[in-house]
Amino acid sequence: MTVSGRGGSFYDVPHVFERYLDHRHSGVSSPNQVMEEPALLEELGTVGGLRVLDLGCGDAAIGQTLLNAGCHSYLGLDGSAAMVEAGNAALRGTPGRVELADIEDFSAPPSSFDLIVSRLAFHYVDDLQPVLDACHACLSPGGRIVFTVAHPVLSSHDSGTQGKRTSWVVDDYFVKGPRERSWMGGTVTWFHRTVEDYVVALMKAGFSLSSLRECAPSEDLFNGDVAELERRRRVPLFLLLAGTRIG
Ligand SMILES: C[S@@+](CC[C@H](N)C(=O)[O-])C[C@H]1O[C@@H](n2cnc3c(N)ncnc32)[C@H](O)[C@@H]1O
Repeated sequence: MTVSGRGGSFYDVPHVFERYLDHRHSGVSSPNQVMEEPALLEELGTVGGLRVLDLGCGDAAIGQTLLNAGCHSYLGLDGSAAMVEAGNAALRGTPGRVELADIEDFSAPPSSFDLIVSRLAFHYVDDLQPVLDACHACLSPGGRIVFTVAHPVLSSHDSGTQGKRTSWVVDDYFVKGPRERSWMGGTVTWFHRTVEDYVVALMKAGFSLSSLRECAPSEDLFNGDVAELERRRRVPLFLLLAGTRIG
């Protein structure tokens, strides 16, 4: 099934929503849990007292974690009504909340937030520069943005393989733009850009680059599943970038 519209609407397709959340929380077989999340949490460091915004927050899994770690507030935005409902259910009884909004339309007054997080959502956005500009504009001085995306090696080309991949193709790497992608039993549009494009956009928005990571697998998180560890050592899945607001 192909869904038109912005990235959030894809996650409102019931079988995509269910399949994605099953995959997302499936332990060792979820690279999000064993590769992306550990790198992200390490990068976030201490969050005590921070006002946090999460763009493309999904079911806001990280909201609870950050609130438990003492952040002052957590606001998640997502373009999928189903994800917003799941996120607000997960955050019930906490000061955190999730609102329905497209990342492309986001803006907030100066110094509204101290930390912006975005996990695996920016590759759904066609024109990222205005989004990063808006992030810079609403962060407090010294505020940070930390985001992950599908690694550009992956977003460059989709060979259409379903199920567990055993080979990957990198092609048209320097051709930026939309890519039809088989994902979670549907077809969705990802927007491919190079590693350099991400870094340049971040710096152009006024951030200094504070970190670039590729979320390599760490043996101790794979519970002895050697085959999965070896598979995950073959190609990078995630790119993490962090920037600090100068001034
Ligand atoms: C791969 S999921 C990641 C969810 C969550 N950040 C996580 O790590 O669990 C991508 C999320 O981004 C949201 N999304 C995609 N494009 C969006 C857009 N243009 N505006 C708002 N949300 C969007 C989707 O609805 C989905 O919840």
